[in-house]
Amino acid sequence: IKTGIRDSYGREINYMRISITDRCNLRCCYCMPDGADWIPMKDILTYEEITAVCQEAVKLGITRFKITGGEPLVRRECSKLIRMIKEIPGTEVVTLTTNGLLLGEQLESLMQAGLDAVNISLDTLDKEKYKQVTGFDKLSVVLASITKAVESGIPVKINAVLQKGMNEEEWLPLTQLAKNLPLSVRFIEMMPIGYGNIPQSISNEELKDKIMRYYGNVTEDFRIYGNGPAVYYSIEGFKGNIGFISAIHGKFCNLCNRIRMTSTGDIKPCLCYEQRWALKPALRMEHKEKRQESIQKILIESIKNKPQMHCFEDVKSVSEKHFMGQIGG
Ligand code: GTP
Ligand code: 5AD
Ligand code: SF4
Repeated sequence: IKTGIRDSYGREINYMRISITDRCNLRCCYCMPDGADWIPMKDILTYEEITAVCQEAVKLGITRFKITGGEPLVRRECSKLIRMIKEIPGTEVVTLTTNGLLLGEQLESLMQAGLDAVNISLDTLDKEKYKQVTGFDKLSVVLASITKAVESGIPVKINAVLQKGMNEEEWLPLTQLAKNLPLSVRFIEMMPIGYGNIPQSISNEELKDKIMRYYGNVTEDFRIYGNGPAVYYSIEGFKGNIGFISAIHGKFCNLCNRIRMTSTGDIKPCLCYEQRWALKPALRMEHKEKRQESIQKILIESIKNKPQMHCFEDVKSVSEKHFMGQIGG
């Protein structure tokens, strides 16, 4: 297996998160405002353009790709893109992060295209609270998608963002989901990006203590389950397991292995900062070899300039001005 390109801090970069749309069929309160202005379709990369970038990424040892949004499955024929990326020689895995609304109906074609795993966002198992958090009464649709995905055998992880005064107590029903089904339930600390705010963020340290007290036999599980920064635990009697993405209280930047690409083709080396490297001018070059060469140069340049760490503890220094739906999480 090829190793990924190193950044200036010696970190190996082998993972790229690709946002394919800023649109979404939900309005999670920490992610997206009502009445967001969508990016015009003409400014969004085509699947051919995204694939051209992935080809250069693979040459640099970036062989693991995550498709995100907005909600990626609202973009037409997402499975076609997954197939195109999977067909690049050297691609290792292509995974998807979705809110699950359209997953049930698209699962088969996604799997046929070669999708390796799926993460589904779900913050609560309470119908009313789901509506409060996301703006839509769609809990049963998501639950049906989760069941279908688990039954199909594809690896499934649930992403849950807990917020003070909103769904704090949902850790219990959500961990029960991992008890009864062979999936991971991961708790993500809310980050001060877009509409996320620190005062409402719940510390995973405290949450983990609570879960340990409740279940007793909780042990860290060092097997790797994905590309991301989650730390996993197994609990006796559970079919699945639980995980924590502690962006605020457990800074994992020293292990960072990723860059992001926005739907308009900007490389974003760190979630926290506004800084971007535009690929579009290179992508729209006529001469194919020159185009690919320029893409590769920009990728290398952006990785060289990857910041050492985020600064979420000092919110004033967080320069990212876009909301999470425009970045892809
Ligand atoms: P897998 O391990 O392959 O499942 O990937 P993942 O955990 O990276 O994917 P997912 O899209 O489910 O992301 C889950 C959460 O982790 C999202 O809220 C992301 O914003 C957060 N996350 C992913 N990468 C980073 C990162 O580099 N920095 C920070 N602060 N958060 C990240
Ligand atoms: N902080 C932490 N996680 C967030 N997500 C969206 N906005 C935020 C935020 N401000 C999560 C979603 C989804 C993942 C891709 O990002 O819940 O699961
Ligand atoms: Fe849509 Fe995901 Fe943002 Fe919720 S968190 S509004 S599902 S992009």
